Amino acid sequence: MGWLSKFLSSSIGQKVIMSLTGLFLMLFLVIHLIGNLQLLKDDGGEAFNTYAYFMTHNPLIKIVSISLYAFILWHAFQGIRLWQSNRAARGNDKYAVSHTRSSETAARNMAWFGIIIFIFIILHLWQFWLKMKMGVLPEVSVAAYDHPVQNLYLPVAEAFSNILYVVFYVVCIVVVGFHLWHGFWSAFQTLGINHPRYTPLIKTIGYIYSIGMAVGFSIIPIVMYFAR
Ligand code: HEM
Repeated sequence: MGWLSKFLSSSIGQKVIMSLTGLFLMLFLVIHLIGNLQLLKDDGGEAFNTYAYFMTHNPLIKIVSISLYAFILWHAFQGIRLWQSNRAARGNDKYAVSHTRSSETAARNMAWFGIIIFIFIILHLWQFWLKMKMGVLPEVSVAAYDHPVQNLYLPVAEAFSNILYVVFYVVCIVVVGFHLWHGFWSAFQTLGINHPRYTPLIKTIGYIYSIGMAVGFSIIPIVMYFAR
């Protein structure tokens, strides 16, 4: 397995890890958005609480969730390492700077966006996920289960009745959108899927995906705020 650890610590190995973990996180965002859109149903949170209970009690999804936390940390850790080595390389090779300025600018922004997103995720988990994990939320009956479930809709509705949280979420979600805008096609490029015929298509899908995620997630706090 020496070749594997050698590959994973090489510069290309680190980029492949960024791509694979990034693609997994992009898939998570699609599922997370579909689930969160249940918040917009005018049913007092019934559909959302049913979905949240299922997602947190299904054994298979529990395993996927643990991988998700690990991949978030791995993606962030690897991103910081790559950022540091890019900075070191820039410091050592002034000539290279003038020739690769645009790609380095994108990479530098990716790192800043990534840091903002990482801080957002910590605050976000603290606000909703931790309350649910600690079991401190009041319980509510839902038609799908013969026992009460935690009312996760409550803290979300409470948060999005405050304009400051709405603005905070929308700003962070826009940053997520920018990160995905570059990250989507960059992930495919790193994995070697780079072809004059397919790259424009991948870029277009990436742009549609990033806008879809940014708009989809943003409308949740906005609609919840105005529908109070
Ligand atoms: C309107 C926007 C959003 C709302 C209302 C929302 C809501 C929630 C809620 C209620 C939870 C806890 C229940 C659960 O695990 O599903 C959660 C978990 C989580 N959220 Fe969000 N979220 C939003 C946007 C985001 C964004 C943009 C990201 C990432 C950049 C994100 C990342 C996560 C992660 C990683 C978890 C933990 C998932 C797990 O334990 O499996 N969320 N979110």
